[in-house]
Amino acid sequence: MTNNIPYDEIISIQRKANIVDIIRDYVPLVQKGKNYFGICPFHDDHNPSMSVSTDKQIYKCFVCGNSGNVFNFVMEYEKISFMQAVKIVAEKTGIDIDIKTDNKTYIDNTYHRLYDIYDIAYKFYQNNLNTTYGKAAKKYLTDRQIDDSIIKEFNIGLSPNDSELYNILNKKGFTDNEIIESAICYKSSNNMYDIYKNRIMFPLYNLQGQVIGFSGRVYDKASENKYINTKETKIFKKGELLYNYHNAKALARKEKSIIIVEGFMDVIRLWSIGIKNVVATMGTAVTKFQANLINKMAPNIILMFDGDEAGNKATQSYLENFGNNMDNIKIVRLEDNLDPDEYILQKGKDKMLYHLSHPINVYDYKLNSLKENIDFSNGKDISNYINLMIPEIEKVDDDIVRDIEITKLSNLTNVDKEIIKSKIKTNTNKEIKYKEKRNVKSNKYEKASKYILYRMIHDTNMILYYFDNLSYLPDELDRKLANEIVLYYKKFNSFNINDFVIYLEAKKDLINLIINIDDLNYTKEELEDSIDNYFNVIKESLYNNQINKLTNQLKNETNEIKRKEIAQQIVEIKMKESK
Ligand code: CTP
Ligand code: MN
Repeated sequence: MTNNIPYDEIISIQRKANIVDIIRDYVPLVQKGKNYFGICPFHDDHNPSMSVSTDKQIYKCFVCGNSGNVFNFVMEYEKISFMQAVKIVAEKTGIDIDIKTDNKTYIDNTYHRLYDIYDIAYKFYQNNLNTTYGKAAKKYLTDRQIDDSIIKEFNIGLSPNDSELYNILNKKGFTDNEIIESAICYKSSNNMYDIYKNRIMFPLYNLQGQVIGFSGRVYDKASENKYINTKETKIFKKGELLYNYHNAKALARKEKSIIIVEGFMDVIRLWSIGIKNVVATMGTAVTKFQANLINKMAPNIILMFDGDEAGNKATQSYLENFGNNMDNIKIVRLEDNLDPDEYILQKGKDKMLYHLSHPINVYDYKLNSLKENIDFSNGKDISNYINLMIPEIEKVDDDIVRDIEITKLSNLTNVDKEIIKSKIKTNTNKEIKYKEKRNVKSNKYEKASKYILYRMIHDTNMILYYFDNLSYLPDELDRKLANEIVLYYKKFNSFNINDFVIYLEAKKDLINLIINIDDLNYTKEELEDSIDNYFNVIKESLYNNQINKLTNQLKNETNEIKRKEIAQQIVEIKMKESK
């Protein structure tokens, strides 16, 4: 275990946390009797299939079979390590522990010299804006309605026309190599030069909020390079950050929603009208890394890329690449090709707020955006269009909403509703498929194996009894689980399922298995059966397996001597069995 929190401390965190409260932060739950139910976030769920038990402090989806304790839920939902999940659960429960997780985005001290350079640089740039030299830049910002409070909040600055920053860094004892490595200066014929000359400087931050790079914008002339970004360094990877992440993170979680825009000017403008749960992808090419970050920020995502065709393409590509759980994504498309910054300045705050409170769902977005390439006088085009929309309709689980969507499509295409309906498969098929996959008909050996495990879970005497008298189960995963239970019992001299599941950490196959077995219903009579009967069934399977294997070997063996050996083995096993 790469453990940096002691096992007993994790147990005590689990005791204090309430799984229902924690999961509620991610998925709405409805109480039914003793249990709570919600939409399972781990498969394409349409009805609440996940139950959360307060008694057992365990969640379980009865469709896809995903189950576990509170840490497993947070871990899988947030796609983080077990220890990071423990930390989050502790935080949410108000338990104060200092845990260093293995999160690679944590502040890494190896590069502290680079961080120091950036710290000096952004303060230097910011100062520059208030000099006489900075007057023109300041005017540009004022004209764009970027006032002092915004400048201060986002640490906007100005790079000068000379190499003053290099001189400062040099005086402070940074070597040329360090300064080159920071990508703030470059060397040419043995001279050092600042990279940014006369640009308005927007600091870029890592996920913890440290400045690690810049985007410099021209302001005094037209230039091909509107923005120049820091090139990749050891601490700056543009595709692994989102502009404003560190500021927006807590708020997005609280409001359960995060707004995604393209540019940092969009973030800044939205901030200035009081919308702060917003991050920028810094361009239309969104990376998988960024999408994962976004998914972790909040359960609801609003895509508000620029209103132009590039922004439309970016929206489509985001949905294609990262939108598999479409229920949580909504879209805002701004009119007149405007980006959010321009939109607020030209149409006003209220119109922006209206858009943000009326985002459209993925279905309506596709209905509109796909429509644009369709020739409605061409039957083939219409047919293609309907076929593209069918999978989207199938995702809608609410009968009424689905009917409304079908009506829309029918009205738009003039195709009869019944024809569209006949093409739609309902989700029930999908769920049956899941169930079939999991409930493979179990034979008597599997049944015996599960029964033995059940007894071991509920009676510690059975653990050693199994170890001494059987120590074998035909199914590999069952056998692994039994082994882990034995090891655990020998180590701690006690056994309970909650603590054991914590001990298993991220071994989800074993966790799902034990929770399933714990849920099996045996009658009182069945539980009074002698376990030896079940051991005998397993021994019989072991015997059959051995005989089958040897019989097969015998069939394929041509060497006379070897054939005799195998036959002898078969006889021995059979004799042993009949004793
Ligand atoms: N971008 C970039 N490099 C460029 C152009 C753009 O990194 N050469 C990123 C910037 O993060 C920018 C975003 O892509 O904020 C969106 O670009 P664009 O729409 O061209 O810029 P605006 O946000 O509209 O900037 P401005 O309003 O200052 O023109
Ligand atoms: Mn703009």
